[in-house]
Amino acid sequence: MSKLGGQHVLITGASSGIGAAVSKELERRGARIESISRRAGIRADLALPAERAQAFDEALRRLGHIDVLINNAGAGAYAPSWRANLDEARLMFEINLFAAIDLTQRAVPGMLARKAGHIVNVASIASKVTLPWFTLYSASKAALEAFSSGLRVELRRTGVGVTLVCPGYVKTNFQSSVLSGTVPPRLAHSKRFASTPERVAAAIADGIERRARTVLIPGLAGWSFVAASKLLPSLIDARLGAMMEGDDDH
Ligand SMILES: NC(=O)c1ccc[n+]([C@@H]2O[C@H](COP(=O)([O-])OP(=O)(O)OC[C@H]3O[C@@H](n4cnc5c(N)ncnc54)[C@H](OP(=O)(O)O)[C@@H]3O)[C@@H](O)[C@H]2O)c1
Repeated sequence: MSKLGGQHVLITGASSGIGAAVSKELERRGARIESISRRAGIRADLALPAERAQAFDEALRRLGHIDVLINNAGAGAYAPSWRANLDEARLMFEINLFAAIDLTQRAVPGMLARKAGHIVNVASIASKVTLPWFTLYSASKAALEAFSSGLRVELRRTGVGVTLVCPGYVKTNFQSSVLSGTVPPRLAHSKRFASTPERVAAAIADGIERRARTVLIPGLAGWSFVAASKLLPSLIDARLGAMMEGDDDH
């Protein structure tokens, strides 16, 4: 039987894309799921602290306790950082970072009391290598990675684990549901290199089962890209810059 069998899971952003696929995969492995998003599950706008608190309480009431919290909901915005709208940037950080911190703070005390639990934060490859068409999104995901890294050590020897998930490009509606802006044309054409939400979901479920520190998808290409960005940063800057050519918005 899967280690996820009978586990009580709260996931955000399961109304589409990666979150929907993760819910399906975890249910298939025997977990009991509740979800929070604006369009499905317990409905709430995670950018609003009061709605977030109410939605968490409702999920806890339905589940009884939470074994696994998956902070998956997220939003991006295509805009150069030096002229991005700051209210929109704050909104993006509220969804991508503060909602995850808030829900984690609400879930961890129960996990500590049971000496067992798992927090999964869905960041991005952009948390490891800043994507210049998505600079402030990358900053929000890098902050989510820093939070996850510190939290993992804070919770050492408590029975509560932390997994960071860093997908590369995944075929979902993410690019078209951004807060503003449009994808640079050369990127819109690189979809053939994308993972599917189902593949990412299986990797996340496996990652929870083996209590992985980091799940990076696709693994080999992803880690090679991260290593190259550390060893040959100017080369990677040039490659990323070339991908933005022909994009008048940036
Ligand atoms: N697709 C990619 O290439 C990719 C790559 C790396 C990382 N990621 C990350 O993966 C996660 C899932 O993205 P996805 O690709 O599956 O995109 P998606 O299909 O657009 O799903 C985003 C999910 O987040 C929820 N959400 C967004 N804003 C919300 C808000 N204010 N309140 C509540 N829920 C909200 C949406 O639900 P509602 O609209 O119903 O509220 C939706 O379920 C995100 O954190 C994203 O940053 C995606």
